[in-house]
Amino acid sequence: MIKQETIEKIFETARVEEVIGDFVNLKRAGSNLKGYSPFNDEKTPSFMVSPSKQIWKDFSSGKGGNVISFLMEYEHMTYPEALRWLAKRYHIEIEETEQTDEERQKRSERESMYLVLEFAKNWFKQQLFETETGKSVGLGYFKQRGFRHETLKTYETGFSPDQNDALTQAALKKGYKKEFLIKTGLTVDSNGRLIDRFRGRIMFPIHSLSGRVLGFGGRILNNEKKTAKYINSPENEVYHKSKILYGIYQAKQQIVKEDQCILVEGYTDVMALHQAGIKNVVASSGTALTVEQIQLIKRLTSNILVIFDGDRAGISAALRGIDMILEQGLNVKVLLLPEGEDPDSFSQKISSDELLLYLHENQQDFINFKAGLWQDRATDDPIKKGELIRNIIESIAKIPGYIQQEIYVKEVARIMDISEKVLFKELALVKTGNQRKAEKEAARQKQVLKPVEKNKAIEPVLNKREILEREIIKLLLLYGNREVIIEDWQIKEIPEDNSLPLVEKVERKSVIAEEIYKQLQEDELEFSNPVFNEIYNKIITQSLNGKAIDIARLLTEIPEEAARLVSDILLDEEKYQLAKWEEYQVDVKPKDANLGWHVMDILLNLRRLLILDLIDRQKEALNDTDEQKRIEIFNEIKDYLFLYKLINGKLYRIV
Ligand code: CTP
Ligand code: MN
Repeated sequence: MIKQETIEKIFETARVEEVIGDFVNLKRAGSNLKGYSPFNDEKTPSFMVSPSKQIWKDFSSGKGGNVISFLMEYEHMTYPEALRWLAKRYHIEIEETEQTDEERQKRSERESMYLVLEFAKNWFKQQLFETETGKSVGLGYFKQRGFRHETLKTYETGFSPDQNDALTQAALKKGYKKEFLIKTGLTVDSNGRLIDRFRGRIMFPIHSLSGRVLGFGGRILNNEKKTAKYINSPENEVYHKSKILYGIYQAKQQIVKEDQCILVEGYTDVMALHQAGIKNVVASSGTALTVEQIQLIKRLTSNILVIFDGDRAGISAALRGIDMILEQGLNVKVLLLPEGEDPDSFSQKISSDELLLYLHENQQDFINFKAGLWQDRATDDPIKKGELIRNIIESIAKIPGYIQQEIYVKEVARIMDISEKVLFKELALVKTGNQRKAEKEAARQKQVLKPVEKNKAIEPVLNKREILEREIIKLLLLYGNREVIIEDWQIKEIPEDNSLPLVEKVERKSVIAEEIYKQLQEDELEFSNPVFNEIYNKIITQSLNGKAIDIARLLTEIPEEAARLVSDILLDEEKYQLAKWEEYQVDVKPKDANLGWHVMDILLNLRRLLILDLIDRQKEALNDTDEQKRIEIFNEIKDYLFLYKLINGKLYRIV
């Protein structure tokens, strides 16, 4: 367990915008920061971070919260994992309370897997840099391929000795469990015998965006064809090949800085380019590019340069990749290397400067790339040329956004020497074709979904009362400490004939939080939504203790769900603008005019609803009870009705 003082220190030091900035490319938008949602595939940025409030909100998924909840959501960390991560990030020393065996056991499975992967990474490193065999065989191999010490350190490469179970035994001795060695794939259970998966290989740890080791690739030290050149960690809880890009951790800052990501195929390609000074580089690790990988890049930049081998396989992979990248709304450039070369081999042949120049001069946008592929065959054959143009237009049709499409159409017109008008017509045709396809697909989907939909409950809408409760929370969060003038009416006289009481208008200065507390106390009002209740109690405790309402602190003290709600409310103001209230037929007056008025309105509305509720409940109770009790209930109803009239009167200022 981490000591409370350490936790507080972490919260005081960590800045939500800095931490999220490690993962998401954020741009200033007024007093907030904005970026693409790291949780959803989206074309327009809807992810907001508020440095002043120390919260974040993802409007596309509805997620939100503080710095901890971001790490929990995004990196799937547990609460203590997130704390430890932050402590490391900000160089805060963690003080721990004693941990019992039981607590140690309770650590989540994922965390255990990360721990054993981290151990393995360090062990492999140690084997490479500190053992005789490692140094001669492993380092020797890297050296022969031209990799420098510094590069190996950056990528934390290692070496697995050619022994049956050296890693497994070392890990077991250190107390790591067999279960997690097997789950991570480091160890293979072969009829009860535990064997290392990686033996006699140089090791490439694969890091997450935040630098955690998720798995490994291991390469044999020769070019014999007997065994697979590379073996990789198997798919498991933490290692999902399709969602990983090798080198993303080492490249992320440079990707953001250069606003471009270079995509290559292999581990050594990444390392070689990095060593040549091109550091914004990642690899899809030999698999066909996936949407998830593109989305991972999209968090950092919208520009991708794909480098492919110049062979047939490379070209067709490039063609597939291009359309996928365009579809995700990113800009794509392509660079084909001379046949037979990959970035590693090529970069070893020329100087860094020459390489940089080569990249600059030979990267093409996808139109030129496609045109180039067809050119020789197409130029004087009108049918072929038509095919080429249509092919390019089909790519353009995949790009979200008319402006981008138009820019590209103009480019095609110029390159292919054909009128824009014709191209736009063609584009429109392709798009209607696509749309029809999409509509058909949607119709089909609907058909399939229909019976299910019928059974589904209608999506719950916030009821009037919850809207008001939410508004109270919002008032507390935004203006809780503020002193306002409250206009109220004091009862002067209650007429015998049950008509409206005589009142007089009074004005008083009141701190909003106190005013809300007092009025809700009057009716012993509880929030109908338990999460609201929790937040409300925390805020009120803070402010009644004479403390300013500290939202950052509040967020750390309430459960995750409540924290999410608070950031929802804070950043979601537009959504509950007064205009919308009319839809719910809640009577409120404009709040801008006077905060005091608004506070009163909300409170009175809420209290009125509550009283109506109580009256209804009492009416029901009238049905099944004895005479004596009925009279009591009847009197209560009378009181409530009176209160109702009073509040109603205050609300409409007609008292
Ligand atoms: N790969 C793999 N398994 C294989 C072959 C390849 O996972 N059996 C992946 C590796 O990530 C590799 C990438 O595909 O880095 C590209 O493969 P390849 O071009 O064959 O290897 P290189 O990266 O060029 O490796 P090297 O230069 O060491 O031969
Ligand atoms: Mn290679």
